Amino acid sequence: MQKQLRSILEEARNQLQNADSLENTEEIRVKLLGKKGQLTEILRSMGSLGAEERKEIGKLANEVRGQVESMLEERKVQLKEILRNAKLRAEVIDVTEPGKIPVTGVKHPITKTIDDMTKIFMNMGFELTEGPEVETVFMNFDALNAGPNHPSRDMTDTFYITENTLLRTQTSPVQARTLLTKEPPLKIISPGRVFRTDTPDATHSPVFHQVEGLIVGEGVTMADLKGTLAEFAKQMFGADTKTKFRPHHFPFTEPSAEVDVSCFKCGGKGCRVCKGSGWIEILGCGMVHPNVLKVGGIDTEKYTGFAFGIGVERIAMLKYEVDDIRLFYENDERFLKQFR
Ligand code: DAH
Repeated sequence: MQKQLRSILEEARNQLQNADSLENTEEIRVKLLGKKGQLTEILRSMGSLGAEERKEIGKLANEVRGQVESMLEERKVQLKEILRNAKLRAEVIDVTEPGKIPVTGVKHPITKTIDDMTKIFMNMGFELTEGPEVETVFMNFDALNAGPNHPSRDMTDTFYITENTLLRTQTSPVQARTLLTKEPPLKIISPGRVFRTDTPDATHSPVFHQVEGLIVGEGVTMADLKGTLAEFAKQMFGADTKTKFRPHHFPFTEPSAEVDVSCFKCGGKGCRVCKGSGWIEILGCGMVHPNVLKVGGIDTEKYTGFAFGIGVERIAMLKYEVDDIRLFYENDERFLKQFR
């Protein structure tokens, strides 16, 4: 029995040295000192011994228990320290390590084009306004001098919601809204989405964007219109850009014009972007028709104005040489990434 007791001590020493967790030390304690442990077994079998021997073994057993217990305690303290240090080491933050570069998105090319365009006009003193996408037939057509038989009112071009409401086919109704709510002199710019019942193809989309402009004041002339748009073209496409005003027709302007810019790609020599002509059509414009001013209750003897409407997708397609309008709406990352 003495031998057994000593071997318990020996075992305790060896096993504790290898114990690498607090759970381990507890297992060792149960195995040696627990209710069914080795020491308890020995104590239990002491009944068969003589009194003298029992006393001796009992004393030794107590000593062994005491020693095993203090060894257990010591190892537990050691392990706690070891585990704590390991944890601290694992949690060390190296402040000299380079940071992670966050993945940031980029502005959509249409948003970027609208921002570029509005910035140019806002720097000229235009005020940014917005109008509703769901519009009344009155604002979209009647107030803009598009009579009841105007072809653009046709069901085949316009998304009607009810008899009197529609998805605006142009940003021009913002002109009517502005004239009804503001007094001249006024100078507004209004970007936004417009809708037409076009079947999508490389150059058509049922949803697209326009930027509308309107100036009304005393003594505003066609020369102001030409100067403003020529300056816009220079800032948008480069200082050498030339502009050409071609007579056209819009119901809400008289006279009306379409504006071409000299091709910013080839400088006017003729290339793929300008289809060989050296010129690119970018917008519609004109002097605000007196009938439109009258809807806003504006004195047409005193005030005149000019207006223009620019197709955003068209500008973006030319500027970034995108040959299919649908690319703008598919949100393919491979396409969008190129505008970083
Ligand atoms: N609203 C016209 C369109 O969608 C564009 C336009 C032309 C706007 C001439 C104007 C303008 O303000 O004066 O085709």
